[in-house]
Amino acid sequence: MTLPVLDVNLMLAPALPRTGGSTGGGSRGIDPARLEGDLAAGFRAAHRAVEERRAGGEIGFFDLPWAAETARRVQEVADSFGQIFENVVVLGIGGSGLGAITLRDALLGPLWNERSVEQRDYFPRLYVLDNPDPATVGPFLERLDLRRTLFNVVSKSGSTAETMALYLVIRDRLARLVEPDQLRGHFLFTTDPARGALRRIAEAEGIPTLAVPANVGGRYSVLSPVGLWPAAVTGIDIDALLAGAGAMVDRCRTDVLVANPAGLFATLLHAADTENRQPIHVLMPYSDRLRSLALWFQQLWAESLGKGLTGPTPLSAVGATDQHAQVQLFMEGPLDKVVAFVAVRDPGDPVEIPPLHGEIPELGYLGGHTLGELLDAERRATAEALRQGGRPSLTIELQRVDAHALGALFMMLQIATVYAGALYGVDPLDQPGVELGKRLTYGLLGRSGFQAPTLGDGDPRWRV
Ligand code: PA5
Repeated sequence: MTLPVLDVNLMLAPALPRTGGSTGGGSRGIDPARLEGDLAAGFRAAHRAVEERRAGGEIGFFDLPWAAETARRVQEVADSFGQIFENVVVLGIGGSGLGAITLRDALLGPLWNERSVEQRDYFPRLYVLDNPDPATVGPFLERLDLRRTLFNVVSKSGSTAETMALYLVIRDRLARLVEPDQLRGHFLFTTDPARGALRRIAEAEGIPTLAVPANVGGRYSVLSPVGLWPAAVTGIDIDALLAGAGAMVDRCRTDVLVANPAGLFATLLHAADTENRQPIHVLMPYSDRLRSLALWFQQLWAESLGKGLTGPTPLSAVGATDQHAQVQLFMEGPLDKVVAFVAVRDPGDPVEIPPLHGEIPELGYLGGHTLGELLDAERRATAEALRQGGRPSLTIELQRVDAHALGALFMMLQIATVYAGALYGVDPLDQPGVELGKRLTYGLLGRSGFQAPTLGDGDPRWRV
């Protein structure tokens, strides 16, 4: 099994000259000698800081690949439920929802839920409800056969308003459809091992649970039961996911910058931001299956690093679609971005393009190629166009989108995020900036102990 390869040539001089070309300006690549000089020293310090917190038991996600008992229990619970239900719906938001979405789209494919039961090999459909938007939730629940559905309520805290509200809505609807003694059989809670409202309800009612380790935070939890269970229940090979992740942890044990892909990723993006004023970091897979990975990364990078008046701004994009949307901005807009491409060497069935209309130049050249070749040529061409404009990029290359590669990629990006936290001098594990909004929401909805803010209507002149 091969691990993802990180290619940073197009971040470095001389590959990235300050030419400007047709797009004007351009930035100079980072001097490669620095990867064994000052940047290597900075990374060694970041690596040491992360290792100290890890040894102190604060950063649990590094150990998940070896949590064999957890994986066994996840598989057991998945096997006991799986083929009984036609549908599994994960209720979870942020780090408690994005991992399941990414796993489903990458490994089951975007059309999984459209397939017939035989095509799914009798595994359930998998949905994730995160946003409590009534315009989505109402119609979704109307067309779902709730009696054939298992709800996996995922909330580490057990108090997130969006997830708890969805749980209440669904519990009420289910209670009107099934016998009282059947109700608990429609739920599985994934939550803190000891604390929180979900844990209390589960204990009182005998609802089965899976535990999120206390030292694994939401956005680092995809390889805990939070992501593993939705994966296992739909037939994804969780052992392969964990093996890929474990191989990446091993790969990143070294504090030698040029040998540590997560270290290189974090160090170069941090340097691009703080030295070259390139704080916008775009993750752009050339793969529909990895669209959701870009959103997962966006949350990870933003919520972990955006604090203390510092931090990069992550963007998500997908190739080739965004060549007709955001790439104009990446090419000729402000020189404030780094694009991280994700390339997939083997796309599976590459789909041949037939040699029709050979007499028409706009179409004729396509015949004899495959859609896979077209997509890959577009990625390479976009990277080269950026380079010619003096705009940095890097590429993460996957052999194929499979469980091993995805596990490794999740792990690489999570490790990169905690290294980046050390480089920026912020705590990548907390999210104090979202607390005030939460408290104000509680106040507005009348939760006891929380003050309702007096928002007022503002000056009517400024409402046009
Ligand atoms: O990454 C995080 O910590 C957050 O995005 C959480 O996952 C999100 O707020 C949901 O929290 P909880 O799992 O407690 O419901």
